[in-house]
Amino acid sequence: MSLEAEIENCGKIHDILAEHWNWAYYDTAHSDTSWLLAEYVNRLKSDIEDRVPTIINELTDILEDYKDESFSILDVGCGVGGFLKRTLTVMPEKFPLVAFKASGIDISDEMIVYARKNLHGLDVELFCESITDRALKFKNEPFDIAILMVTLSFYNDENAKEILCSIHDRLNEDGLIVVMDFAWSYKWSGFKLFSKPLQRLTDMFFSHLLGESFRFNNRNEEQLLALLNEAGFEVVKSYLSEKKSGMKGMQVIRARVK
Ligand SMILES: C[S@@+](CC[C@H](N)C(=O)[O-])C[C@H]1O[C@@H](n2cnc3c(N)ncnc32)[C@H](O)[C@@H]1O
Repeated sequence: MSLEAEIENCGKIHDILAEHWNWAYYDTAHSDTSWLLAEYVNRLKSDIEDRVPTIINELTDILEDYKDESFSILDVGCGVGGFLKRTLTVMPEKFPLVAFKASGIDISDEMIVYARKNLHGLDVELFCESITDRALKFKNEPFDIAILMVTLSFYNDENAKEILCSIHDRLNEDGLIVVMDFAWSYKWSGFKLFSKPLQRLTDMFFSHLLGESFRFNNRNEEQLLALLNEAGFEVVKSYLSEKKSGMKGMQVIRARVK
């Protein structure tokens, strides 16, 4: 499928999900859901409560040794702005000598409407575009770090690589990327009995939302690392966010520009 077609599908899915993402971060009301969407929505809140602190910990670790006066962050697929809001609340308190500059981008109009509301009053540049739009220039570019949370799985390998290359080209020469993405297949793939039904369930959920057939790209750690490598990144660390079970959680990868 072409990049444009995948962007369009992904945008439609997230337009539908935006009110639920906003509920997950900010407890706002959302409309009634089908049973399938209700299952997803119920999981979303606890997932987010695990995911955001993991990335904040990564940022904290990176900034411990940081010497510059300013630090620029790009959130790719920023959704309702939940991560940027928490970052801009927590990080300046932890690192008062660093001036934080933030930008966010998302292809979903509905997500960006929420992000603008949620980030109102904060100095954040927001775009409703695809990161792959090469004509787009951010005022904070080149960035010290890009965050890419739970976005690559909506794209096939070729298009996911294009997304990573577009990010790579917007980073400083020693810039970093932190990717967080689905990882269950990495352990579950050993259990063919479970991995196939789980893949089907995920595909069924997104196809149901989209109203047409959709394939969700579950990758294992090795595949994610290969994509980053091909896009010009050198992996610094890679781990599962849920250490105890190894069956749940997300793969978290920190990589730097090669
Ligand atoms: C699963 S949501 C995650 C939202 C947010 N990162 C979070 O974790 O709260 C993925 C987001 O990526 C956005 N997205 C997908 N492809 C994109 C692209 N090519 N450029 C910018 N944003 C994109 C979607 O619209 C969606 O809001």
